[in-house]
Amino acid sequence: MSTDTLTRVEIRPLPDSFAAEVVGLDLSQPVADEDFRRIHRAHLDHHVLVFREQRVTPEQQIEFSRRFGALEIHVLHQFHLNGHPEILIVSNIVENGQPVGLGDAGYFWHSDLSYKEKPSLGSMLLAQELPSEGGDTLFADQHAAWETIPPELQARVRHLKAEHSYLAKYEELRERSPWRPKLSDEQVARVLPVVQPVVRTHPGTGRLGLFVSEHFTTRIVGLPEAESRALLEELFQYATLPQLQYRHRWQPHDMVFWDNRSVLHLAAGCPDHLRRRLHRTTVQGDKPF
Ligand code: SIN
Repeated sequence: MSTDTLTRVEIRPLPDSFAAEVVGLDLSQPVADEDFRRIHRAHLDHHVLVFREQRVTPEQQIEFSRRFGALEIHVLHQFHLNGHPEILIVSNIVENGQPVGLGDAGYFWHSDLSYKEKPSLGSMLLAQELPSEGGDTLFADQHAAWETIPPELQARVRHLKAEHSYLAKYEELRERSPWRPKLSDEQVARVLPVVQPVVRTHPGTGRLGLFVSEHFTTRIVGLPEAESRALLEELFQYATLPQLQYRHRWQPHDMVFWDNRSVLHLAAGCPDHLRRRLHRTTVQGDKPF
């Protein structure tokens, strides 16, 4: 029998949630093709996968992430892990007066890189240092959000398009935190606004999902400003209904891999004096349709 068929992986749905835990996998070892296929399927089905006790190096995180697609290099090069630009440091730690990572990466609900022509397929976040209190990450299921919207509103928004911009909240975040460097002209040129469907079809499952967020969506194309703002506010409320959320309470060495085509996420925050550091890889996805 080939090792390919000797799968050790169990997909265990988490109670009262769409998310699941992947049990029986050590990501510091090569992942067999059959295990990878099961993880890939589970990622489509559960949208958020939790891998416990993963003591992996940056190289191993990058290697596993790459099996899902090409990796993005985040525009904030200031927060790349030294020698590994594929890893973005998400951290509130300030050393010698300098932030070591992006401390407010998830301050508003968002889907990673929705401001790019090809937003992210999924992101992998590996816990390095966790606060003793707080620091959770919330995920909201955007297929369920779409299905919760009344039919009249669904018909109204089904074929609308919206603009997404990396800069939408940038200055607001810069004013309230030390983590946002002034962007160079070259950085600004890399994040020009894009237009995305308000409702996207998941390329892996065919399911419809809402694809707007309070962090990056600036306006609905073709609507007057006030109408666009009111409609977006209404959609944001459906997108983040508490009953559609999974709250991840981090444990040491957790790795969480979510599907940016299916969920929005938010960092719930922790007291400023407690240290929090995670490493993120971001897999490139397709142009939404
Ligand atoms: C992110 O938005 O990628 C970071 C989420 C978190 O810090 O919990």
